[in-house]
Amino acid sequence: MMSNLKTQTIFFSPTNSTLKIITTISDALKFEKLHEINLTFPSKRKFKNIGAEADILIFGAPVYVGKIPSMIIPTIKNMIGKNRWIVLVAVYGNARLGHALSEMIYLFRDQGFRIVAAASFIGEHSFTSDDFKLAENRPDFDDLRLARSFGQKVREKFESTPNEIELIGQKPDISELNSEHKARNLIDIIRTHDENCNRCMGCWSICPTEAIDMITLEINEEECIRCCACVKCCNFDVREIIITMTPETKEMFMEFSNIRKEPEFFL
Ligand SMILES: Cc1cc2nc3c(=O)[nH]c(=O)nc-3n(C[C@H](O)[C@H](O)[C@H](O)COP(=O)(O)O)c2cc1C
Ligand code: SF4
Ligand code: SF4
Repeated sequence: MMSNLKTQTIFFSPTNSTLKIITTISDALKFEKLHEINLTFPSKRKFKNIGAEADILIFGAPVYVGKIPSMIIPTIKNMIGKNRWIVLVAVYGNARLGHALSEMIYLFRDQGFRIVAAASFIGEHSFTSDDFKLAENRPDFDDLRLARSFGQKVREKFESTPNEIELIGQKPDISELNSEHKARNLIDIIRTHDENCNRCMGCWSICPTEAIDMITLEINEEECIRCCACVKCCNFDVREIIITMTPETKEMFMEFSNIRKEPEFFL
């Protein structure tokens, strides 16, 4: 029975750290894999009951202002667990994990999933640029080694009798209200080298909130969540991250960079 299990990765990952980590975990599980579902694309978030064909789901999302990104909550609330197993992964930029992992655990439990394992991992902070560096180049070799080891531990659980993890922390207040808007006071995205743009439309197609105008390629400030995907995907360095946070806030962030945080597993 165990060898017939099918897994599926579902993730939101504008700058790919979450994608790298959950793909490594999924490889280490060594079950049959169904096609991945990338919720970074707004069209994928509209479907109801995604992941319905898998026996084990591996779900990953980054931490935005200590919470899970608000735009994926309606998609989660449209998923149907039917007592199936799920592995949950929250990825943060070496600052604060906040309530993101407990939010995921309670949300998926409410949808009828059984949480077989959960973990927090660290990925390069989205705002990392010339003037701001936090968890640069993570997940690195050691993080991915730990991701493989986590995947193997999950596999071992399925080789005996899997059980649910203990709930972590108090039930958090899960609000669908956009908390990521707070990042608007921290950075801006500008087009510094417009002359280099060849209209490949890479930034337009990767934007998780459809904030980039198809004709002008201008960013709608209200829609933009400052995920920085449009900066990092551009091969021609057209866009740039400008740090607009106060010097005190920047100092607080730089203090986070003094201590390397490590992944945590709940099995
Ligand atoms: C709007 C926004 C808010 C963020 N808030 C936090 C936070 O509260 N704590 C933290 O450690 N990292 C925070 N980050 C950094 C991301 O969690 C981190 O860079 C993560 O690796 C991004 O995942 P991705 O590469 O899969 O998109 C934030 C990033 C953005 C864009
Ligand atoms: S990804 Fe860069 S080159 Fe391509 S359309 Fe966007 S700004 Fe222009
Ligand atoms: S426009 Fe804003 S939301 Fe869209 S990819 Fe760029 S930073 Fe992310």
